[in-house]
Amino acid sequence: NRRATGLIPGDGIGREVIPAGRRILEALPSSLGLKFEFTDLDAGFETFQKTGAALPERTVDVLKNECDGALFGAVSSPTKAVKGYSSPIVALRKKLDLYANVRPVKTVASAANPIDMVIVRENTEDLYVKEERTLEDPARGGVYAEAIKRISARASLRIATIAGEIALRRQKLREAGAASIHTSPLVTITHKSNVLSQTDGLFRTCAKEALAAPRFAGVAVEEQIVDSMVYKLFRQPGSYDVIVAPNLYGDILSDGAAALVGSLGLVPSANVGEGFAIGEPCHGSAPDIEGKGIANPIATLRSTALMLEFLGEEKAAAKIYAAVDANLEEAKLLSPDLGGKATTEEVVSDILKKL
Ligand code: NAI
Ligand code: MG
Repeated sequence: NRRATGLIPGDGIGREVIPAGRRILEALPSSLGLKFEFTDLDAGFETFQKTGAALPERTVDVLKNECDGALFGAVSSPTKAVKGYSSPIVALRKKLDLYANVRPVKTVASAANPIDMVIVRENTEDLYVKEERTLEDPARGGVYAEAIKRISARASLRIATIAGEIALRRQKLREAGAASIHTSPLVTITHKSNVLSQTDGLFRTCAKEALAAPRFAGVAVEEQIVDSMVYKLFRQPGSYDVIVAPNLYGDILSDGAAALVGSLGLVPSANVGEGFAIGEPCHGSAPDIEGKGIANPIATLRSTALMLEFLGEEKAAAKIYAAVDANLEEAKLLSPDLGGKATTEEVVSDILKKL
């Protein structure tokens, strides 16, 4: 089974952690019958400074036509708007129709307050359609700005459907022996339809409809208004399994949830479309530690496993998760963000050994 994988390190520590993803794919036992072919691809702020394009056409073409999946490191964004520059990962999500952003947030099983949840964020619309404008009207006291929040039935139905599928797959993994704090699948629909009855109201109705499909009969469904969701997420994070949300709330919830596990260096994500997934660590380019060789590679290794899950290679994914968990449980070789002294290289080789 040959898998063509694009590697897009991007900027900063992206270049230090993406090689770890490649190495763990190459180290998977041959009994799994997987063969990876890698293509190095450019994107990011440095690429923009060199070539004038943050996302070169070749990168998009190769991903579209030659790859089954990809790993994306991180890109730096200038703090002030730079003419002609816009985020390549946002563009890539659009061009490849990667409509779901999937972010698992998990502690090791032996944690005092174990957490094991996945946030599934709609990734194509809502306020992030970026239809904003600045106007002026004396009746409003002068300058004002406004933005469109667009929610469609199609996007809401498909994001809830993939959330239901993820809940079912997690249940299957549990039944196959994966350690977990949950015993049955639960999807929590998050919205603010009490205030935004049309936009969030549509999201809510569609999500409920999608999850009412017969194949999700075994999945419990609940809903939670987004502000109380934040409260409960911090008070009792262990009670959530799969959370599904429109783009903006999902963005905020997933960064908030990442804070529950201590370091951004641990949290993976995947951008998922039909038959294509990009694994991407949640962290940025971390200029404060760039070049020091101490970036935590675990977010990338877990993102690599997550990519494999969405490509249907669940066994391979499970092996990577287990090797990472073994490193964290043993806690001998940890990077500085986790209070350890190990370098990126030392953490990677320990995890490869455990694999
Ligand atoms: P950041 O995630 O790069 O760093 C935040 C803090 O977490 C820093 O102290 C950093 O050292 C630490 N950290 C992050 N990843 C780590 C890892 N793997 N191991 C150990 N420590 C880690 O966020 P920040 O500083 O706000 O942004 C830096 C740059 O990255 C900016 O240009 C920003 O626009 C960009 N960024 C890009 C993202 C992406 O490509 N998806 C996401 C977030 C930020
Ligand atoms: Mg974010």
